Amino acid sequence: MKKILLGVFFILSSIVFTKDTILVQGAMDIEVDTLVQALEKPQKEQVGAWTFWKGKIGDKDVIVSRTEVGIANAAASTTIGILKYSPTVIINQGTAGGHDPKLHAADIVLAKKIINMGAFRTEPKEYGIPSDQKDFLFFDVVQRIRDKEGNKVENESFSSDSKLMEIAKKINYKHGKVVEGTIGTADQWNRELERIKSLHEKYGTAAEEMETSSVALVAKAFDIPFMGIRVLSNSEHNKEDFNPDTAVWCQEFTIDFIKNIK
Ligand code: 5AD
Repeated sequence: MKKILLGVFFILSSIVFTKDTILVQGAMDIEVDTLVQALEKPQKEQVGAWTFWKGKIGDKDVIVSRTEVGIANAAASTTIGILKYSPTVIINQGTAGGHDPKLHAADIVLAKKIINMGAFRTEPKEYGIPSDQKDFLFFDVVQRIRDKEGNKVENESFSSDSKLMEIAKKINYKHGKVVEGTIGTADQWNRELERIKSLHEKYGTAAEEMETSSVALVAKAFDIPFMGIRVLSNSEHNKEDFNPDTAVWCQEFTIDFIKNIK
């Protein structure tokens, strides 16, 4: 009887006292340095080309992950991070280029919707008919996981976890606006204004970058709450060139966000 009670106590206490393990990502050095500095007793671990720093922020176990740039790197490093550290929350943060002319460098976009804007197909066209990006058709991302009705999941888009979003919306930020919006991900860096405008009109994107949709896809496959946070570091519309300080501001915002996760 004593043994059973003890067992029940341990199971209950592990449920009540389970602490979050937070996997927080940035692609480039300037997008992880501030986070690594915020870690208590960081331990650096390397797997293949990907680097992780394990430590604490406040009472939380935090793993900072340098994903490297682009969708393949983001997917690989997220998968390794999940298998190695079993995170309960995944945050992808970093810099982005503005698609919405109303947004400026230093403004933050919280990823309400995330699109893989590099996934498309075209209908047949004969020789002599020029390719036109306006004819590109969106290609849904299919995942071999089942929805409530038992169907395979087809993702037109991904999203951040709604509870995490509510916490992020309450974080104070002094360098610019904080808005909810759509992030467009692709292995692309677009500077042509007509192209940026047409992507913005087609997908409603607030900003573009190269990792978020990959990370959201892997997080969803493992059913782990995800949050995307992106700062505009550049805007072609507003003639604002890449400002590296914005990467630091985004990490400071993210550190406050991590401290506020309950
Ligand atoms: N277009 C694409 N990626 C951008 N990044 C910052 N600005 C842009 C932009 N305008 C981010 C990407 C990638 C790195 C090169 O910078 O997410 O990690």
